[in-house]
Amino acid sequence: MRILFIGDLVGRSGRSVVLERLPGLIADWKLDFVAVNGENAAGGFGITEAIYQDLLDAGADAITLGNHAWDQREALVFIERAPRLIRPLNFPPGTPGRGAAMVEAKNGARVLVMNPMGRIFMDPLDDPFAAVDRELTACALRSGADAIVIDVHAEATSEKQAMGYFADGRVSLVVGTHTHAPTADHRILPRGTAFVSDVGMTGDYESVIGMNREEPLTRFLRKIPQGKFEASMGPATLCGLAVETDDTTGLASRVGAVRLGGRLEEARPAFWG
Ligand SMILES: [Fe+2]
Ligand SMILES: [Fe+2]
Repeated sequence: MRILFIGDLVGRSGRSVVLERLPGLIADWKLDFVAVNGENAAGGFGITEAIYQDLLDAGADAITLGNHAWDQREALVFIERAPRLIRPLNFPPGTPGRGAAMVEAKNGARVLVMNPMGRIFMDPLDDPFAAVDRELTACALRSGADAIVIDVHAEATSEKQAMGYFADGRVSLVVGTHTHAPTADHRILPRGTAFVSDVGMTGDYESVIGMNREEPLTRFLRKIPQGKFEASMGPATLCGLAVETDDTTGLASRVGAVRLGGRLEEARPAFWG
């Protein structure tokens, strides 16, 4: 099956490129499943129900989150009626919503999506490795799911790479998110899991991680906040990871980088034409 994972879309610029281009990509590439990280979708901070619905209408099948999950307080409420919205897996017990969900793909396949969050240079949380292990014990590839997608939302490359090898052979893909800059190390790990340390953001790259440059620069130079962080509105690059899985094993057979529009060099998976 053909899976596209799209990295953290930031603000209106990130949303626009996804809403404009995703329907065409689904048709051209015959995509079976699309996951989008939406933690920065609303002006860079969190997600609203209206945006969640717009992304589903454009063809997203699952939307993952991260440390910005609750920046829009309404997400704490509407997530309970949003079965395709997945918040960090290792939040404390009792957190609204779900950190892992079984989602039906366009071809009817069962796709398990989970969103563990790292702990290095981030808020303290429960062990993401133990949390992933619990989910995979309860629902294994092939017997329980046709494909398994892990969005590992973390600052440290080491932690994301460790998660890749931890899950290698047990899931279809492990995609790093959160740093908002794509890495060039996408590959299939020895036991068959597609991996990238960070898929990059879907936003305006003429920015500091998707935000207008002035305020971040001011804070680095003077250590005094002058204003708010605001999502940069220039043309976005859609950054993603294209993965084809083997229908008998659920593991990855091909992996490629996707970068479309905006300031970054274009990349598209040659194996999808
Ligand atoms: Fe993000
Ligand atoms: Fe994040």
